[in-house]
Amino acid sequence: MKILFATPEFAPWIKTGGLGDVSGALPAALSALGHDVHVLIPAYDRFATLTDRHAVLDWPAADGWPAARLTAVEQPGGVTLLLLECPELFGHGGGPYVDSRGNDHPNNARRFGFLAWVAARLAGPDSPWQAWQPDILHCHDWTVGMAPFYLWLAAQRTGQPVAASVMTVHNLAFQGLFPMWDADMLQVPYEWRGAQGVEYWGQLSMLKAGLSFADAVTTVSPTYAREIQTEALGMGLQGVLQARASRLHGILNGVDTDIWNPATDTLLPQNYSPASMGGKAVCKAALQREFGLTERPDVLLLALVGRLTPQKGIDLVVEALPWIVEQGTQLVVLGQGDQALQQALTAAALAHPQQVSINIGFSESQAHRIEAGADAFLMPSRFEPCGLNQMYSQLYGTVPLVHATGGLADSVVDLTAGVDRATGVVMPQATPGALLLGLERLRSAFADKRIWQALQHNGMRGGFGWQDSARAYDALYRNLRPQIGASDT
Ligand code: ADP
Ligand code: GLC
Repeated sequence: MKILFATPEFAPWIKTGGLGDVSGALPAALSALGHDVHVLIPAYDRFATLTDRHAVLDWPAADGWPAARLTAVEQPGGVTLLLLECPELFGHGGGPYVDSRGNDHPNNARRFGFLAWVAARLAGPDSPWQAWQPDILHCHDWTVGMAPFYLWLAAQRTGQPVAASVMTVHNLAFQGLFPMWDADMLQVPYEWRGAQGVEYWGQLSMLKAGLSFADAVTTVSPTYAREIQTEALGMGLQGVLQARASRLHGILNGVDTDIWNPATDTLLPQNYSPASMGGKAVCKAALQREFGLTERPDVLLLALVGRLTPQKGIDLVVEALPWIVEQGTQLVVLGQGDQALQQALTAAALAHPQQVSINIGFSESQAHRIEAGADAFLMPSRFEPCGLNQMYSQLYGTVPLVHATGGLADSVVDLTAGVDRATGVVMPQATPGALLLGLERLRSAFADKRIWQALQHNGMRGGFGWQDSARAYDALYRNLRPQIGASDT
C-alpha cells in the first residue's frame, strides 16, 4: 500500500520527544513489510543541509494558502521524506512549535493548518500529484489533526474515493487549540464550527477535528486507549473518544534497535550485552565521572531523562529528594521544562553535588550514556501515552521504576511477577508515598544480586522492536475503508 505520513517531527532530523522517534522509525518498519511510505513534514531550516532532494511539484498559492514547493529525498530504510518548502511559514528558526525564545510561533494555526491542508490534498480526489496517490493518510498529533477533516470534506463534496485516514494520538494533552476566528483562515465550513465539528469549549481544536473525522483513531498503547475514554484522563475529549470507541485502537510503540542497542551503540564508552555485562560497569563509572558524582560501583545510581513537567511526575521526584540523599543513593537528571522543577532539582544538585547532578538541556548522546550508565530509571508519570525511555532502559539493563499508567503499564512487569518475568518496579499510584515505597522496593532489589540480575536480563530480552507494532498497523490499514457519508460522531 502507499502510505502518506503527516507529522511535525522526524528523528534524527527533528525531535522534541517520542513523536520524533516514532515518526523516524515506524515508516521504515512499515516499509520492511512491503509498503511504500512517504513522510510529509515542513522543511524547517535544519533541512537546508539535505541537499540531495529532488523537486516533486510547485504548489501554487490558492484557496487562501501560500505558494510552496514539495521536494523529496530518500531516507534509510526505504522511506521517502517529502519536504513542504514554504519559508514564509517554516523558515523562522526555533523548534517546530516554539521560537528560539520558547514562545509558540504566533502563526502556528496557519503553519500547521497548511501542512494538514497539503496532506489532505495529496490524499484526496483532486491531488496535484497524480503520480503518487496514497491509500492511507496517517496523521500524528494535533498539528495535522485538520487533515482527516479536510479529507472527509473533500470526499463529501466530490463523492470520489479518497485515502482512508488514521489519526494517532501521541498525547491528548496537546490539543491544538486556537481562537474560533481562525476558522475562516482554516476554511472550516460554518456548519462544522460547532460541537459536532471542530469546536471545543468555544475554541477550535485541531486534534478534535482529527479524532472526529478520521476513519480510525489510534493511540500508542492499549491501556492509554482505555484511559482516554474516561473523565480522569480524557482531557475533556472523553465523550468524543467514547463515540468513536469502535474505531479506536491502542498499538504499543516499539524501539528503533538500530539506534538503541547497548551491544552496538557507538555513543557508549563500552558496549555490553546480556552475555557480557562488564561494559555496563564501565558505563556507570564514566557516567558518575561525567556528572561529578562519587565514583562508586556499589551505590544505586538513579536516572531520569525527559521533559521536566508535572505529566512526567517530576514534582514527585523532587519530593523524594530527601530520601534519595539520606539513603546515600545518586541521581542524574537530563531534561528541560518547568522553571520551578528545574530550580528545585538544581538546588538539590548544588546542595549535594556528589549525589545529585542535573544537566538542563537536550542531548541525544548524553541520553544514551545515561541509559547505559544508570542502575535504575525513574518514570513516575501521572499519565504516559506510551513512553519510550522505560523500554530503552530495559534494553540497556537499567531497571525502570514506573507508575502503572498508559504504555508504562503495558511494558514493565512488576517485581511481584517473580524472577522469571519481572523487569521493573511498578507503582500503583502517582503519589509521593507510592514513589517512596517504589524506591524502597527498588533499593531492596538492588541489594540482592540475584533479583537484580534477573530484572536486568528479563528486560534486556524484552525485544520491543517495531516489527509487532508495524504488523498491527498493517492489519488496521488493510481493514480500513474511508467513510463516505456522515461521520459517526
Ligand atoms: P515524551 O514524548 O512524552 O517526551 P517519550 O518517553 O515517549 O516521552 O520520549 C521522549 C524521547 O525524547 C526519548 O527518546 C528521550 O530520550 C528523549 N528526550 C527527552 N528529553 C530529552 C533530553 N533532555 N535530552 C535528550 N533526549 C531527551
Ligand atoms: C508522546 C507521549 C509519550 C509517547 C510519545 C510517542 O509524546 O507523551 O508517552 O511515547 O508521544 O508516541
